Amino acid sequence: MHVLILNGSPRKQGNSQRLLQEVTRVLDEAQVTWECWHLGTKAVQGCLACGYCHTHPGCALQDDVNELAPKLAACDGLVIVSPVYYASANGSLVALLDRLFYSARCDLRMKVGAAFAVARRGGTSATFDQLNKYFTINQMPIASGRYWNNGFGREPGQIEQDAEGLQNARVVARNMVFLMRSIALGKQTYGLPDPEPVQMTHFIR
Ligand SMILES: Cc1cc2nc3c(=O)[nH]c(=O)nc-3n(C[C@H](O)[C@H](O)[C@H](O)COP(=O)(O)O)c2cc1C
Repeated sequence: MHVLILNGSPRKQGNSQRLLQEVTRVLDEAQVTWECWHLGTKAVQGCLACGYCHTHPGCALQDDVNELAPKLAACDGLVIVSPVYYASANGSLVALLDRLFYSARCDLRMKVGAAFAVARRGGTSATFDQLNKYFTINQMPIASGRYWNNGFGREPGQIEQDAEGLQNARVVARNMVFLMRSIALGKQTYGLPDPEPVQMTHFIR
């Protein structure tokens, strides 16, 4: 079992990082391997809608997106955490996720997703919903917890006082491990569900 973690905070030792420590502790205890990509202060270009990825493997822009694509293809679970900016995810993280999910073109079915939003006070539910959208358009089951995964704090370290948020992160991580293991058994026993040819329609035809 292997989990890819995407930390969408610019801050090295921010509250998102602290929340992730709870997740990785549980993964370590369960002997699930993980690797963490950190956005930091990287400038991530948004999608150009150039269509390159329709005809070529990967994204036309050469940056972390193309390095993350094989890691996304290989993982059993994906954790995304974002600080909340104006009641939504960090724009640079969204730029990366749009391009990664659009261009990676790998089979994401039954990889387990878990998203967390970290804020001073408001916008975590909207951000949580926003991040879960990347999972639910890709047939990825979601590991849930005992709340709509959030953590609270403004200055780095303040999340330490949010015992409920940190506990919820551990609960989600344990549920994620259980789901990944159950899905691995299910794949062996039943195989993945039969795919149908994709139908693409929109509202003007
Ligand atoms: C540009 C900007 C916008 C923010 N918008 C919000 C917001 O809408 N709601 C909120 O509660 N906190 C907001 N915050 C505070 C951060 O979400 C908070 O400091 C969080 O702990 C940052 O996570 P990090 O330490 O992992 O970077 C904002 C911070 C910045 C820099």
